[in-house]
Amino acid sequence: MINQETKEKILEAARIEEVIGEFVVLRKRGSNLLGVCPFHNERTPSFTVSPAKGFFKCFGCGKAGDSVTFIMEHEHLSFPEALRYLANKYNIEIAEEAPSAEMIEAQSNRESLFAMTEFAKNFFRDYLWSNEEGIAIGLSYFRERGFTDEIIRRFDLGFAPDKWDGLTKSALDNGFKLEFLDKTGLTIINEQKQYDRFRGRVVFPISSLTGRVIAFGARILKTDPKSPKYLNSPETEIYHKSRSLYGISLAKKDIIAKDVCYLVEGYTDVVSLHQAGIENVVASSGTSLTVEQIRLIGRYTKNITVLYDGDAAGIKASIRGIDLILEEGMNVRVVLFPQGEDPDSFSRKVSTVELLEFLEKSAVDFITFKTKLLLSETAGDPIKKAGLIRDIVDTIAKVPDAIGRAAYLRQTSTLMEMSETVLLTELNKILRAKIAKQQGAQGTQPTQSYQRPKNLDAGPPELVPDGEEIILNDIEKQAQEDEIIHDELNTSNQEEELIRILLNYADLDFVIPGTEPEHPSAPIPTVKVKNFIIGEISEDGIHFSNEFYAGILAEFSTLVEQQQQYEAQSFVQGLEETLKATAISLLTTRYELASWEEKGIIVKAEKDHLDKAVIDAIVYIKKKQLDKFLYELQREIKERVVENIEVDDLLEKYNRFLLIKIELNKMTNTVIQK
Ligand code: UTP
Ligand code: MN
Repeated sequence: MINQETKEKILEAARIEEVIGEFVVLRKRGSNLLGVCPFHNERTPSFTVSPAKGFFKCFGCGKAGDSVTFIMEHEHLSFPEALRYLANKYNIEIAEEAPSAEMIEAQSNRESLFAMTEFAKNFFRDYLWSNEEGIAIGLSYFRERGFTDEIIRRFDLGFAPDKWDGLTKSALDNGFKLEFLDKTGLTIINEQKQYDRFRGRVVFPISSLTGRVIAFGARILKTDPKSPKYLNSPETEIYHKSRSLYGISLAKKDIIAKDVCYLVEGYTDVVSLHQAGIENVVASSGTSLTVEQIRLIGRYTKNITVLYDGDAAGIKASIRGIDLILEEGMNVRVVLFPQGEDPDSFSRKVSTVELLEFLEKSAVDFITFKTKLLLSETAGDPIKKAGLIRDIVDTIAKVPDAIGRAAYLRQTSTLMEMSETVLLTELNKILRAKIAKQQGAQGTQPTQSYQRPKNLDAGPPELVPDGEEIILNDIEKQAQEDEIIHDELNTSNQEEELIRILLNYADLDFVIPGTEPEHPSAPIPTVKVKNFIIGEISEDGIHFSNEFYAGILAEFSTLVEQQQQYEAQSFVQGLEETLKATAISLLTTRYELASWEEKGIIVKAEKDHLDKAVIDAIVYIKKKQLDKFLYELQREIKERVVENIEVDDLLEKYNRFLLIKIELNKMTNTVIQK
């Protein structure tokens, strides 16, 4: 049992933002941090971490707690296990008190399984590097495959001896109980005998998110039609195939940094891509891609690029993957490798630079992918073309958010030379069928109308050409809903972000993306952050709703008008008393972040991406403003529908605003997410 003093030491050392930062991408929001909740499925971040208080709370699902609770919940650990995890992270030595018998009993099971897999990993690894058979057969196989010694070590690859009791005997000799060899699937036990599952194979250990070995995959070396090429551990208490991704513990850092995850089919693809210098890669080896695996990736990035073989099976797998990824509200691109190549073989034939270039050049969005794939078959056949279009629209219908659907629809319309209205009619047909099916499944009567979506982005399309969907629901519910909508349309988060950027970077220069120099030799023109922001805000007539942010904004406007320089300290001193605290807290988050970086927390160097930060902030507030317009229009349309008045002009206006919003979405690359 861990003694009280150690417990306190651990709790003192654990900084919640560091602990959680390992699993959730956190972005600063005022003095707190905000991220996508790992405990429930959400697209808009509502998971808040307060470094000052040492607490986290999700405003979506209500989960809350401190560092220890987080680790317990997230890693499915008991209280002492979570403490051990943190002690390990912070290099705190654990002073133990003599444990009681029940304590040993309760704790031993899972930990024993981990100890067992850890032992097996070391056994296979040592066998590969130190045993004659291991070197001659296993190590030389990996080397012949082109794996470097360094990469073989990084992945802890190993070799299982060609004996019935290699691992089993060694484990028993080392005091492991047969029970745990059985429970980890390493030893197969039946009435007459017990024997090693993995024999005469090279071994790939599979790790959990935190890098603990939970299972193994093993490849045969001789051709034997009776044995499968790869053998995997069975499902165990610590290994759930559908929730594991090969390579995730080594990839997660780079997935966050690159903001994209490459998804490949197998162990060798992951290893080879690492060797080629690409580390943001995982494999769904052994199973076809699952929703849980996609959500796991979704904690680190919203962008998945699927790298599959160009053969029929690879294409089929990509198509299935695409729909699943889109349904989770994530962005998907596809790279098909030339016929006969997979990422593993291809990466060994080209240089890293060429590989990266290939990935960049050949990654296409799913519409282009499907179109290219199927268009060749449809050549000149209108019926087949119609089938292809339905296929694409079917996939678009899987995208959960209306704005994303509209953007994809538009792209399809251009690509297929087909009117958007026709496509929209098709899409609405599918969506209506889906809604009817859902309602049917819930046992309620299918109805012509639908519940007005609480979130403007979430529901079925508001934009239906024949207007039949826009029917007012229960008027009494309206008032309640309005309040929710009012909160959602509140721009104070966006205001805060703009003020934060102004306070921290007002006088820095940046290049507006897409700006060209006047002539080729001239420098690219830059603009000061404060001039750009103040300009954009006044041009669009945006009013801040939060009085503090509005007050600070007014001071910046004066500064810009009078063409004065900005200096943080004197600016804050010159502010009214009531505004000072707000300004200071927005200024200080930055310094806190700097010290996290030293501790290895990944924070994007915002200063180096000022253009993105500024443009994003402006675009977000404009989008919110547009949401307000759209919402007001929607209400007006509904009122008219109720009174049976023509709505064409409003629909047209609505359409126009929606297109502007799509454009804005494109600028922030958040076509699907909000
Ligand atoms: P491959 O058949 O290409 O495996 O499958 P390989 O080890 O690279 O074999 P060679 O050298 O090209 O012939 C690619 C991936 O698919 C998974 C493995 O993860 C492998 O890395 N796979 C393949 C299985 O899980 N089970 C199998 O039976 C075959
Ligand atoms: Mn292969």
